[in-house]
Amino acid sequence: MSKLYKPNSELQKNAYINSMDMYRQLWQHADEQPEVYWDKLAKEKINWIKPYSRVLNSSKAPFYSWFEGGKLNIADQCIDRHLAKNSNKNAIIWESESGKTRKITYKKLSVSVNKFANILINDLGVKKGDRVVIYMPIIPEAACAMLACAKIGAIHVVVFGGFSAEVLRERIIDTKAKVVITADGAYRHGKPYMLKPIVDQALNECPADLCNKVLVVKHNKVEIPFISGRDYDYQSLVKSQKSTFKSEPMDSEDISFILHTSGSTGKPKGIQHTTAGYILWAQYTSEIVFDLKEDSVFWCTADIGWITGHTYGVYGPLAAGATIVMYEGVLTYPDAGRCWKIIEKHHVTQLYTAPTAIRLLHKVGPNEPSKYDLSSLKVLGTVGEPINPEAWLWYYNSVGGGRCPIVDTWWQTETGGHMISPLPGATPIKPGSATLPLPGISVEILDVNGTPVSQGSQGLLCITKPWPSMFRSVWHDSDRYIKSYYDVVKSSDKNRHIYFSGDGAYYDENGYIVVTGRTDDVMNISGHRVSSAEVESAIASHLAVAEVAVVSQLDDISGESIVAYVVYHNNYDNLNMLTILNELNQILTTEIGPIIKIKRLIIVPGLPKTRSGKVLRRLLRSIARDEQPTQDLSTIENPTIVKIIQDISQKAS
Ligand code: WTA
Repeated sequence: MSKLYKPNSELQKNAYINSMDMYRQLWQHADEQPEVYWDKLAKEKINWIKPYSRVLNSSKAPFYSWFEGGKLNIADQCIDRHLAKNSNKNAIIWESESGKTRKITYKKLSVSVNKFANILINDLGVKKGDRVVIYMPIIPEAACAMLACAKIGAIHVVVFGGFSAEVLRERIIDTKAKVVITADGAYRHGKPYMLKPIVDQALNECPADLCNKVLVVKHNKVEIPFISGRDYDYQSLVKSQKSTFKSEPMDSEDISFILHTSGSTGKPKGIQHTTAGYILWAQYTSEIVFDLKEDSVFWCTADIGWITGHTYGVYGPLAAGATIVMYEGVLTYPDAGRCWKIIEKHHVTQLYTAPTAIRLLHKVGPNEPSKYDLSSLKVLGTVGEPINPEAWLWYYNSVGGGRCPIVDTWWQTETGGHMISPLPGATPIKPGSATLPLPGISVEILDVNGTPVSQGSQGLLCITKPWPSMFRSVWHDSDRYIKSYYDVVKSSDKNRHIYFSGDGAYYDENGYIVVTGRTDDVMNISGHRVSSAEVESAIASHLAVAEVAVVSQLDDISGESIVAYVVYHNNYDNLNMLTILNELNQILTTEIGPIIKIKRLIIVPGLPKTRSGKVLRRLLRSIARDEQPTQDLSTIENPTIVKIIQDISQKAS
């Protein structure tokens, strides 16, 4: 058995869940009487405008609905309900890359969100249920834009600011968005970068009836073209807005937002989240997983373009009444100590980041944390990919001083909030394991027939009972919801609806869950989900490329990196590898964004395929990772190609 790190007794005293006995009892109770458990939580945590009449409706499973008949508003839950007691408390502490700080109290945030809501309604004509695309840097106005949508009942669709015009356009079209909210630009690595020109480019080729209004927040003040009649200047409009706004009472099941994420096939899916179930779990998990209290200063480093930035960058901690830190720039700018300096300066109590960031910070400044006063830290969190023991131990010892529990949280865009995680005041932790499911969450590791695998064996990570923050569907594609998530693991019992996450996992010797990564053709590059299919379709547009298959190899910093196996068209044999690599990466930047790049390009004479023509990516992945292929090679149409690719691959590495 590997060493377990016990919770620190100081933290344990006041933790929400402060012993394993308490955790087990709560989990058991939630498992046996789920509706009683969820009912109590919903009544305790949510400010209902109108109470709900039913906790869970499973009659159309796996399309569930929660808290039917209830009315509430997420912005009220995150802001207004805190005003009576905490109006002068900081809701947001924002720091620019250049070191400028803005502190926004709950009172000020409430005024800003109300004014923003008035702009959306009065100047941009946004109505309840309309889709609003948000393409913003990490500035307070980005959070205000999200909360203002919540306030008026519009559905936000946040697109990560590093995505290209192509991706932005696809999402505008997919959701038939009415408005885009953006900024001129922001700063990274000390240099300005631009967003508004990318919006212009995206809208250039959009159908004319979509998005004919763009709201621009001036931030980096670099000159940008303004299209009169279409573009609106936020700073001018905000001056004349009323500071009050009556929140729209939303049904529990109304869609709060759509966020796109990659699946193994086709275009990214618009994951659809609701109102009551989502905010309930965002708030409750913020409290119990991070031990968030009203005096906590919580810093989640994720961009708002990802689910982590939604649930724990904005909604959860604000609903819990804490202070959030938002940082505009790069964690290592201008030097390796920046991240630790921010913690010292703002007395951050919880830091939530990704293994990629931890590995990078470790690499560029292993001793940097010791130069800063990090004594305010209480809990450290990680998310997005499996964390390797070396990074975990450095995080635990050098950042947390051996006294801060690490919560390794496993969850997904689809789950809305944490599913598997240690509880900081209860769970003994160890490197590399997200440990145990949270109370109310039924995680099982199964085979494809829905039978549990034995301890130590790899299986499919599934969730076998509904939970309130689960996504309700894929935007405009309920078939895909069923096919991608509920049709993979099928039990003979037709009444069992098993949600398959796409991840593999096993139970270790402590009975803890170890998540091993995706079992499908989704890659995890620096914690960003990207499908092989998306990358391949971009690469295939290059004139020289006849065929391509993309897989991931392991990488010291980004966790996984991309290997592309390319077959050239006949007359393109003598191309310079570096030139073609640059050209392919340029295409990826244009089609997806600069976060996706090929690390290793391997030119091969053909790809291994089944007789029905399916490329065997799993086999290519084993080759790229220098692992012995475990796949059945008997179904390959052209078996000799395997040895040829292995030889080329070895020479190329
Ligand atoms: C991976 C991010 C191991 C996993 C919240 C999942 C993790 C995908 C962990 C979801 C973790 C997330 N340990 N792997 N603690 N957390 N993952 O939708 O493969 O961007 O399916 O949501 O990230 O990525 P997504």
